[in-house]
Amino acid sequence: MNETEYNPQTVQAAAPDAKKVHEEFRLAQSAERRARAAEDPFRLGYHLMPPAGWLNDPNGLCQFNGIYHIFFQYTPGDANGQDHRGWAHYTTTDFIHYQEQADPLLPDSFADGKGAYSGSALIKDGTMHLFYTGNNKLPGDYDYINNGRIHWLMHTESKDGIHFSDKEVLLRNEDYPENLSCHVRDPKILEQNGTYYMVQGARTKEGQGEVEVFASGDLKHWKHASSIRSKKPFGYMWECPDLFDLDGHRILVCCPQGVSRQGILYENIYQNGWFETGTDLDHDQSVDGFTELDNGFDFYAPQSFRDEKGRRILIGWMGIPDMHYSDPTLDYGWQHALTLPRLLSFKDGALCQYPIEEIEALRREKITFSLQPEEVLTLPSRKMEIQLRFPEGSGPWTIHYGAECTLSWKDGIFTLNPGKAGKGRDERHVSVSAIKSLSLFADTSSLEIFINHGARALTTRLFDEQDHPQLCADTALQGEAWQMAEFKIEENSGKFSQE
Ligand code: FRU
Repeated sequence: MNETEYNPQTVQAAAPDAKKVHEEFRLAQSAERRARAAEDPFRLGYHLMPPAGWLNDPNGLCQFNGIYHIFFQYTPGDANGQDHRGWAHYTTTDFIHYQEQADPLLPDSFADGKGAYSGSALIKDGTMHLFYTGNNKLPGDYDYINNGRIHWLMHTESKDGIHFSDKEVLLRNEDYPENLSCHVRDPKILEQNGTYYMVQGARTKEGQGEVEVFASGDLKHWKHASSIRSKKPFGYMWECPDLFDLDGHRILVCCPQGVSRQGILYENIYQNGWFETGTDLDHDQSVDGFTELDNGFDFYAPQSFRDEKGRRILIGWMGIPDMHYSDPTLDYGWQHALTLPRLLSFKDGALCQYPIEEIEALRREKITFSLQPEEVLTLPSRKMEIQLRFPEGSGPWTIHYGAECTLSWKDGIFTLNPGKAGKGRDERHVSVSAIKSLSLFADTSSLEIFINHGARALTTRLFDEQDHPQLCADTALQGEAWQMAEFKIEENSGKFSQE
């Protein structure tokens, strides 16, 4: 792409009518559309969801002046996410009470007319900086892979975390290395020895997925510094990279697309997982040993941040692109949610994740149980935390949860089978040599499974209509369960009135 393609006529043809975009976003979040979504019996109790319409990647996660900010990719007008994406915004101080804020970024300029795509936050000197990808398509006969697509690095900033400055373009297509296609996106920043390094996911012109590293001293001027690629080609595109240090390890989380299934590995259409990398970001690196982060049906584009207590917290999109199944929430005009916030740690070579301790504040009545094989425990609600412990050497076993779902472990493989509650999905697996504990965070239509306190995780939507799911197994089951209260979310249906 060269400058001549940004001639005034092309720009004009691709630039959206900002007023119209704002009006569309406002109407798409009308009280009627929110009310319709709220009527859905599968609406979740303790997970963040779009007020109406479609949600995908978590974006801009940070803690700023004590307040946690959770942004996400949002298409309010179309529950299938086919319309242009903007960012939506929730704030919280305790991960239990949330305020819905005005949408900070709408696809209302030439730079991002086909989507204010994913990005991240960086806090510096009392300012919240947001970096994201401006996505647009130029009118013409293009393949939109190597030509015709705008993929600019965008920036905006805020002093209060609520009101943002005008959008600013920091990198244009021609500022990226020549070997890259127009699929370069999802900036995330790490500071190292006084230099800012930004990673972006990329697809090369030759169809290889990799991560590009850019360096800057002032957050405004960015220069390509290096590339991180796998030793052997691993998919055609890597999305949503996240580079951070954890317990003495440098971790690169990313989402490769175009990796074929190998036995029980890479069972989803697109992958999520991590590599361990070196710390020299000024030279190219090759990495090896990709490990999946979450083996469930619904987990993608996770993003992490370090909070003011020094915790590394990760939130994922509890969904995945291009995975076709009959999601019943579409009947109520909404789709997808975010996972619970998870604390990351690195133990025994594994990247472990477990819901942050704040979630314990949702626990209500406690049930302690010790069930004989085939004995049934009827749970009071679909919103439950269930902790199961297994004596050493136990297994193989199969646990039945609710009307349809089975969780089983045999020959070193854990299997999640949602049954009919999967609405057309079959099974997901993860290899684990022994299981000591299983933690289940069940919500109205989701299940997050943590094996051995998060050494393995599987996240899935689960559409079981029973209000009182039953738990039973072919082995003795011991543990505790709590009925879970709901998040308290303060809506902001007048959020466009601030404009
Ligand atoms: C991942 C992703 C990102 C992109 C965003 C657009 O799900 O494709 O790469 O920035 O979604 O919504």
